[in-house]
Amino acid sequence: MPAFSDPSDDGACVQWPLPQEWPLLSRKPRLGVMASGAGSNFQALVESCAGGWASIDLLVVNNGGCGAQQRALELGMANQVVDHRLHSNRESVDRALIDAFKAAAVDLVVMAGWMRIVTPVLIGAFPERIINIHPSLLPSFRGVDAVGQALAAGVTLSGCTAHLVSEEVDAGKILVQAAVPVDTGDDRASLTARIQSQEHRILPLAVALAAQRLGY
Ligand code: GRF
Repeated sequence: MPAFSDPSDDGACVQWPLPQEWPLLSRKPRLGVMASGAGSNFQALVESCAGGWASIDLLVVNNGGCGAQQRALELGMANQVVDHRLHSNRESVDRALIDAFKAAAVDLVVMAGWMRIVTPVLIGAFPERIINIHPSLLPSFRGVDAVGQALAAGVTLSGCTAHLVSEEVDAGKILVQAAVPVDTGDDRASLTARIQSQEHRILPLAVALAAQRLGY
C-alpha cells in the first residue's frame, strides 16, 4: 500500500485528511491522466500506482514532447497527443479527450498539470470522476499564476488543493489540501517547488478518495 511520511518532516502543515490510512478500494480503478508540462505530478502518480491500487492506462498531453510525455515514453506507457491548436474550440478538444479516454476504458481522469480550461462536455462525460491539482489553498487564488497571486497578496500560508472538477474553474469539491508556509524571501520558483512537493503527496490520495466515493 502507498504510505505517507510524517508531514511535519518537511516544514509543511498538512491540513486534511493526512495522516490517515490509505483508502481501501474493492476494485482497482483505471486512470487517465492529462498533462501539459514537466510532468512531476504524473511521475508522482506513476510511483504511487506502482503500489498496485490503480493503473494508469493512458496519458494525454496537449503539448507533444512535453516532460510528461517523455516520461511516459521512457516508461513504455500508453500516451497520446491532443493538440488544442488543431481544434477550433474547447468543446472539440474535449470530445477528442473523451474519445481517447473511453477507448482506454478509464474510470477516472486526473488533470495533473493540464493548463487548459475544460468544458461541460468533458465534465459531463466523467461526472464526479475528474480530479485536478491546483497550487493554492482554494478557494483562494483560483485561475492562472496562483503562486504569484499568493505572493502578491502577502499571505504567510499557501499550499495546494486536489479537488473534483466542476464547471466553475477551480471550484469543485475539495478532496485534500496541504498547507505550505511562505518563507521570507520566497519567490515564485522557491514557493512553487515547496508547494509541488506537497502536490505529489496529496494528488494520489485524492484520486484514491475520489475512487472510494464512487464505490471502488
Ligand atoms: C502543478 O504545479 C499544478 O498545480 C499546476 O500545474 C503544475 C504542473 O506541474 N496545475 P507538473 O507538470 O506536474 O510538474
